[in-house]
Amino acid sequence: MVYRAPVAGRSWFPTSLEGQMVVLRRHAPENLDAFRRWYRDPEVARLARYQDGAMSIEEIDRFFHGRALGTDTLTMAIHVRATNRLIGTCAFSQLDGDNGSALYHITIGEQDAWGHGFGTEATRLMVDHAFGSLGLHRVSLSVFEFNERAIRSYASAGFVAEGRAREAIRRDGRWWDEISMSVLEPEWRARRGTAPVPVPVPAAERGAALMASGGTRNHAARPASATRETVQPARRGLAAWLLGR
Ligand SMILES: CC(C)(COP(=O)(O)OP(=O)(O)OC[C@H]1O[C@@H](n2cnc3c(N)ncnc32)[C@H](O)[C@@H]1OP(=O)(O)O)[C@@H](O)C(=O)NCCC(=O)NCCS
Repeated sequence: MVYRAPVAGRSWFPTSLEGQMVVLRRHAPENLDAFRRWYRDPEVARLARYQDGAMSIEEIDRFFHGRALGTDTLTMAIHVRATNRLIGTCAFSQLDGDNGSALYHITIGEQDAWGHGFGTEATRLMVDHAFGSLGLHRVSLSVFEFNERAIRSYASAGFVAEGRAREAIRRDGRWWDEISMSVLEPEWRARRGTAPVPVPVPAAERGAALMASGGTRNHAARPASATRETVQPARRGLAAWLLGR
C-alpha cells in the first residue's frame, strides 16, 4: 500500500534540517528554474533516470509541482550552508505507515557540487529524520550499478546492498544491474551508538492510540499498549502522524 500522508499542519514535514555543510529546506516555487536546469542535464539523466535522455520541460514542471511542492512525498531542497546556494533535491516517497518504510531519492543537480560531500550529508540528515523523527523502520533506494559515486555515498550514510535486478538498465550500449539498498532503524541506531530513551506514555494518549489503531495492528501505536514501555519520543511523533489518517 502506498501511504498517503495527511497534510494538515504538515507536522511530519520539517521546515529545515541542518547539517554542517548543507541545510535542507522545503522547496519554494522559485526553485522551478533550478529543477528545469538539473533535469535537462543529460548526465544527471544518465545517472538517475530509467528512460533514455532527459525529461521534457513539461515533465519537469509536472514533477516539480507534484513532488517538490506536492504533499505525497517529503521532498527537501539541498542548500550549501555557507552560501545558501541551491544545489539539489532529496525526497522520501512511498511513505508507508503500515510497514514503517519509505523510498529515498536524491539529485545534486549542480555538477560542480558533486564530490564535495554535500549529497552524503544530505542523505545522512534525511536518514536521521526518517528514524529519529518519523520513527520509520526501513528506508530503501535503488541505484544503477555504474553510479559508483552514489553507491559509495549511500554506503557511507549507512545503506547496505540487499539485492540486484540483473541487467535491468540499458545504458551506454550495454546492460547494467539495478542495485537495491536499504538501511534499517536498528542499524542506524547502532551506528549512532544511542539507545532508545524511555518515555512514559500518558494514559490519554495510550487510549487514543489504541482506539485509532484498532488495538493492535499499527506498530507505531504499539507503545500505547504498555504503561511504561521504552518509547522513543520521535516514534510518538510518527504515531500521531499515522493516527491522523
Ligand atoms: C550521488 C550523489 C548524491 C552523491 O553526493 P556527493 O556529494 O556528490 O557525494 P560525495 O562527495 O559525498 O562522495 C561520495 C563518495 O563517492 C566518491 N566519489 C566522488 N566522486 C566520485 C567519482 N567521480 N567516481 C567514483 N566515486 C566518487 C567519494 O570519494 C565518496 O566516497 P567515500 O565516501 O568512500 O570517500 C550526487 O553526486 C548526485 O546527486 N549525483 C547526480 C545524480 C545521482 O547520481 N543521483 C543518485 C541517483 S540513484
